[in-house]
Amino acid sequence: MNQTLELMLSHRSIRKFTDQLVNERELDIIIRAAQAAATSSFLQAYSIIDVKNPEIRAKLRTFCGDQEYVEKSPIFLVFCGDTHRIKNVCDSSYESGWTETFIIATVDAAIAGQNAMLAAESLGLGGVYIGGIRNHAQEVSDLLKLPEEVYPVFGMCLGYPAQDPEVKERLPKEIVYHVDHYTELDEATLEAYDTHISDYYIKRTKGKIKDTWSEAVSKKFKQEKREHMLKFLQDRGFIKK
Ligand SMILES: Cc1cc2nc3c(=O)[nH]c(=O)nc-3n(C[C@H](O)[C@H](O)[C@H](O)COP(=O)(O)O)c2cc1C
Repeated sequence: MNQTLELMLSHRSIRKFTDQLVNERELDIIIRAAQAAATSSFLQAYSIIDVKNPEIRAKLRTFCGDQEYVEKSPIFLVFCGDTHRIKNVCDSSYESGWTETFIIATVDAAIAGQNAMLAAESLGLGGVYIGGIRNHAQEVSDLLKLPEEVYPVFGMCLGYPAQDPEVKERLPKEIVYHVDHYTELDEATLEAYDTHISDYYIKRTKGKIKDTWSEAVSKKFKQEKREHMLKFLQDRGFIKK
């Protein structure tokens, strides 16, 4: 096992940070690592907003469902899908609104984000993605002055870890890895994983959470739908056709 693989396999989200600041050199290499990621057709269809202003951070915390670390983490980055820049450099041949273009921008932002996370982890930092940034996607876009055809895909808190959570075991490989064709999941394999995750939550939360993985997933889809997203994205100039 090499160091890169060890780092990848030891990922866990960090939500508590020490007061130690992330210096400009570290931040610079994290952003450059994000930019080094592969990008569809070399479009580089994303932007990263580094939110430093404490008042904006406090507002973002509220918009993200009062997640404290959004305000308090040493670094908070917002990864945006961005076709605004592309539209500007294209001649009149550019047509807004294609779903495919939206997918490209979203995937580009996500791949850049994961490179940033891994780079940060390689420097001894930790972090957590913040999908809560889409809870109030329009308000966040106004606050960050995002132009049309730019939207916040996720936020990312980064800093030096002040906690050491256990790695959360993923689904058994045979559930997500298929050869030649899709195979429906094996109930017994899932059941064993469900028990394992329930035990993990009981241990991590001292018995407050007991959900199996299947229960946690089904709760998530009952609670959080972000119904505003289709209209929001269309208003931004995305997914109209
Ligand atoms: C796109 C994305 C959005 C996420 N949003 C949040 C969030 O808003 N708040 C949070 O505490 N964790 C968030 N997470 C972290 C996940 O809950 C976490 O990655 C998952 O439970 C697996 O745990 P691990 O990262 O510790 O392995 C997000 C993760 C991703 C990839």
